[in-house]
Amino acid sequence: MKTLSIVGGENLSGTIRIGGAKNSAVALIPAAILATGEVTICNVPEVTDTSALCDILTFLGVDIARASESIVINAKNMENKEISCEKSSKLRASYYFLGALLGKYKKAEMYFPGGCAIGARPINLHLKGFEALGAKVEVEGNKYIVSAEELKGGNIYLDIASVGATINIMLAAVKAKGTTIIDNAAKEPEIVNVATFLNNMGAKITGAGTSRIKITGVEELHGCFHEVIPDRIEAGTYIIIGALCGNYLKIDNIIPEHLEALTSKLMEIGVDVTIGGDYVIVNHQENYKKTNIKTLVYPGFPTDLQQPFMTLLTQCEGTSKVVETIFENRFMHVEQLNKMGSNIIVNGQAALIKGKTPLKGMVVQATDLRAGAALLAAALIAEGTTVIENVEHILRGYEEIVEKLTNVGAKIEISEI
Ligand code: UD1
Repeated sequence: MKTLSIVGGENLSGTIRIGGAKNSAVALIPAAILATGEVTICNVPEVTDTSALCDILTFLGVDIARASESIVINAKNMENKEISCEKSSKLRASYYFLGALLGKYKKAEMYFPGGCAIGARPINLHLKGFEALGAKVEVEGNKYIVSAEELKGGNIYLDIASVGATINIMLAAVKAKGTTIIDNAAKEPEIVNVATFLNNMGAKITGAGTSRIKITGVEELHGCFHEVIPDRIEAGTYIIIGALCGNYLKIDNIIPEHLEALTSKLMEIGVDVTIGGDYVIVNHQENYKKTNIKTLVYPGFPTDLQQPFMTLLTQCEGTSKVVETIFENRFMHVEQLNKMGSNIIVNGQAALIKGKTPLKGMVVQATDLRAGAALLAAALIAEGTTVIENVEHILRGYEEIVEKLTNVGAKIEISEI
């Protein structure tokens, strides 16, 4: 097990450069197999989720070369094989191989995906989408077999605007015969990034970023060059950390428009935020005011920032409220934060945070990726030393986290026990 040891109380100054979006890269890597030629994806974050997907590509016989932040993928020697439970359960996004393999070979065999235990996270909408394209879905225990004689465009209405289902259906539909319409599609920037990638490969997708996406099937997709958008969740996490202990902390290489739900809340509670073309500068202030947030699909407040934002709310005067509407089990960080001295009461999908409470260094558990980020933010302002256990969760989504924080003045070390 890896642990992080953080001595709290330092002011953080300088620049943190944000990497490519994990949630985009984890879709682009499986999507690359749809091309007949060589695909170069740059700005790919070096996190364990992207390496786990590269391992699956290697297992399938795909040639991959990694050079600094780029990955070159060539699927010319690829073979369609069953993806084992051990490989698929390493992360959530392995489910994109269902759509990509179905789109390429009209057959995919894979075990249930893994990822953070933040809710039941069914994939029924992904499967419903594949069926609407003419595929047959069989479930054998924990394994999915999705196959089709021929994929034909269809009309799909998603009951929930699911990020994963929207992308997976796009992957399956790009080479289907005819036109597919996805209604109530998710609108997250990562979806636009994936649609742009597929269009760069020769696909015909319009409407990505709106709730209606139209995909006109094409015969073949070719190689291309593509860049991953900046990670708005990594950026948002460091911006929150800046609000807690930043002294003109610059979060660089971002698209500030993707973070408006967060930055407007920060300004509302009294954080000093300067928004530039591709950066945000955050300066910690005393006496933050309470506020309420409700997680929503994009462009609403992102569920992935709810947990670190709650750490900030422990430092606001008065009682703040957080309502989580996307995942049913995304308050696991609360018990750990309360151990550190916060006063948070959970009632169903709502949490009341009574502030302001000083936080103390403790041994705490990162129960999931963003819970880990919430604890890290807390540790940076806590009195004394915090040890965060199960840091593997954090490393799935934050690239070079120790280096990035050390460079701006944090006292943080990683070790293996
Ligand atoms: C993705 C992100 C995750 C983020 C989430 C919401 C990736 C790899 N992960 O997760 O970081 O927190 O979007 O922004 O991109 N649902 C169903 N049936 C389905 C699919 C989803 O009921 O077939 C439900 C889920 O259980 C959840 C809600 O819909 O309650 C939203 O899920 P979804 O948008 O699909 O999230 P993920 O793709 O899992």
